Amino acid sequence: MTYFPRSQRRRPNLRSRHLAQEEERDVREGAIDLTLVYGGRSRDLGGRCLRLARRCRRRRADDGGHQPARPRQPVLARPASQLRLGRPGAGPWDALIGPGNRADLEWPLGSHGMGKGSQRLLCPTLIGRDEQLAVLAELLAGAARGQGQTIVIGGEAGVGKTALIRTFSENARAAASRVLVGECTEIEARSPLGPFLHIVEIARRSSLIRVEDAQRVAPLPQGGEIDATTRPRLYQGIARLFAGIARTASLVIVVEDLHWADEATLELFRYLPRHTKAERIILIGTYRTDELHRRHVLRPVLADLAAARSARTMELAALDRGATGRVIRETLRLSRDAPAAFVDALYGRCEGNPFFIEETLDAMRARGALRERDGEWLGVDSPELSLPDSVRDAVDRRYGLLSDDAKRVLRIAAVIGQRFEFDLLAMVAEISREGLIEVLRSAIEAQLVVESDERGSFAFRHSLTRESVLADLLEPERRDWHRAIGLALEASERAGPEELAYHFDAAGLRERAFRAHLGAAERARALAAFVPARDHLRRAVELAGPDDDALRLDAELAQAEAWVDPSKGERAWEAVAQQALTADRTLEAGQAFAYVGALQVHSGSPRALANLSRAIELLEPLGPTRELAHAYDYLTQWHLYNGEREAGLRVGSRGLEIAERVGAKARAIGMRVTLALLEGDGRDSAAVRHDQIVVFRAAIDQINALERPSPGASVAVGAGPLKGATGP
Ligand SMILES: Nc1ncnc2c1ncn2[C@@H]1O[C@H](COP(=O)(O)OP(=O)(O)O)[C@@H](O)[C@H]1O
Ligand SMILES: [Mg+2]
Repeated sequence: MTYFPRSQRRRPNLRSRHLAQEEERDVREGAIDLTLVYGGRSRDLGGRCLRLARRCRRRRADDGGHQPARPRQPVLARPASQLRLGRPGAGPWDALIGPGNRADLEWPLGSHGMGKGSQRLLCPTLIGRDEQLAVLAELLAGAARGQGQTIVIGGEAGVGKTALIRTFSENARAAASRVLVGECTEIEARSPLGPFLHIVEIARRSSLIRVEDAQRVAPLPQGGEIDATTRPRLYQGIARLFAGIARTASLVIVVEDLHWADEATLELFRYLPRHTKAERIILIGTYRTDELHRRHVLRPVLADLAAARSARTMELAALDRGATGRVIRETLRLSRDAPAAFVDALYGRCEGNPFFIEETLDAMRARGALRERDGEWLGVDSPELSLPDSVRDAVDRRYGLLSDDAKRVLRIAAVIGQRFEFDLLAMVAEISREGLIEVLRSAIEAQLVVESDERGSFAFRHSLTRESVLADLLEPERRDWHRAIGLALEASERAGPEELAYHFDAAGLRERAFRAHLGAAERARALAAFVPARDHLRRAVELAGPDDDALRLDAELAQAEAWVDPSKGERAWEAVAQQALTADRTLEAGQAFAYVGALQVHSGSPRALANLSRAIELLEPLGPTRELAHAYDYLTQWHLYNGEREAGLRVGSRGLEIAERVGAKARAIGMRVTLALLEGDGRDSAAVRHDQIVVFRAAIDQINALERPSPGASVAVGAGPLKGATGP
């Protein structure tokens, strides 16, 4: 593998000064490459290399020589032929493209209930959105020219965001583009990167990508070793996967309902526009403006996208009176316009919200105010209109007409979520298949539920519908259903830990919720989604029972806190260190002091030295351990940063010896680089730099070897204390 193409082109008869310059450039570029290649393993090696790179650059500036940076082939974009394919191991890709991620192949709520001879009153065509369709068509044309496009579409619930995108998607598909859709959901059960996880899964099921591709375009550490730099690499990998799909046809990626997105999804959504600029990709996000309170997490993301001019925005306004009239006419399939008084009344009540218009028409029909006879609607001329007051009221009116049995089943479905599986619902509601089919049929006819494209799965027609049904539930009833749903999901072994954690929490099943939160934290960690990982761990700590190892849990939480906010992590680790000392748990105390010290090395705190020394003092008597190697590693870095060459070399070689003894391979590679940097300290000569290059190259190769999928590695994202975590 070639990371230093320039050095390979080097001719032997170059003058030594040129040789030195070449070497410097190699180191500089190598250092940057190394941070890329190494990125997923540990940020400190990147830091070490950048330090050297900076020094080289400084010296270049001193020399007065300025070389424009040549465009570098990104390391991760190596031609496929140079890379080995391998079986997947446990790493972020496996969490992302693992088996069992639920996804359907088409639009999530594909059947939509239009046509099909149905009794439902739904507008069969998109009214009054020509302008918006033209903007989207323009984006598609731009994408086809290889200019990536991003747009975020805001509007109140029911205004027609999904309907607009659906029509645009049909147009795009007709123009041979691919469309992949992911949705954010409102329940806390959402998994980190949920919609992207779904999109990647759709792509995998349609054979557009494979796990091997993912690991190839963005090799991520196997064995689940995660740190702060895993995430950018994962995002880079996802961007490359999308770019790969877009190579053969323009790709439209839709993330629906961003106002419910988890922070990882939002971060990736912000990342993609900048990294798919030159790809045939359109990224579309939608969000509900009525959900966007002042401190909503989506706000800064939208502001950011606008400031970076990386995304267009579209605010979808309600329909005007004219369009309202057309929706009524189309929905009722009238042969002429509805009377003005009828349109005015509906426009006055629904304010141009198409969902509300449809619901109102159907509610009127349900109450007999609108009747169809021989293809004509009676009631549209009636001067006495009984209109529902709100969407809720409109939904309630139809819901109210269902049988008690059907109402009960729908309430359970609403507790399950926006989508629900037939089998699960049948099991929880303790109802026969025939009975459930009857109930669902009546709910579909009442325009409350639609059949999802995923087999055996249904969904509420709109999130507003589910919200209305949920509002009908009493607290104890809700808790009981959460319990029954959680237990049924657990037994079926098909649910993710997030879903279980959500239901068990709401059901008040402590022990089960505790386990599920731990599992969810682990999964979030595997996806480098640190905020949800921390949140699940915080909850797990709250739920821990007397038999659970509190110290171990606190240590895990401290580590998660450090991922999110190093200064909080430092305080959390300090508390763990004190707790461990009190409990006479020397290994844990040493480990905690090492983490405190490591975080302080990063922040430049002078207290790092004392804490790392304390860690070593505690750990040395226990013999060689990974924790001890960790402490030595950071102590060596401390000396490097403070220009203490002799001390650094001394502790560094001891640390390297321990790292090798305990098989901490990545740590050993990093330490060799630190030692090489220390070797060169104050002795800038061509020979030293040459030695450094050799070490760097070896480090790159070794890291690549580590990150190559190991044959037979299993896909396992299970829980376990501090497993594989690197970090500071
Ligand atoms: N422009 C439109 N013309 C006709 N019907 C529409 C239009 N916009 C939305 N609808 C209908 O209104 C309902 C709600 O629209 P939807 O797109 O789901 O809203 P949102 O995604 O904004 O919450 C859907 O049944 C849809 O078919
Ligand atoms: Mg929608």
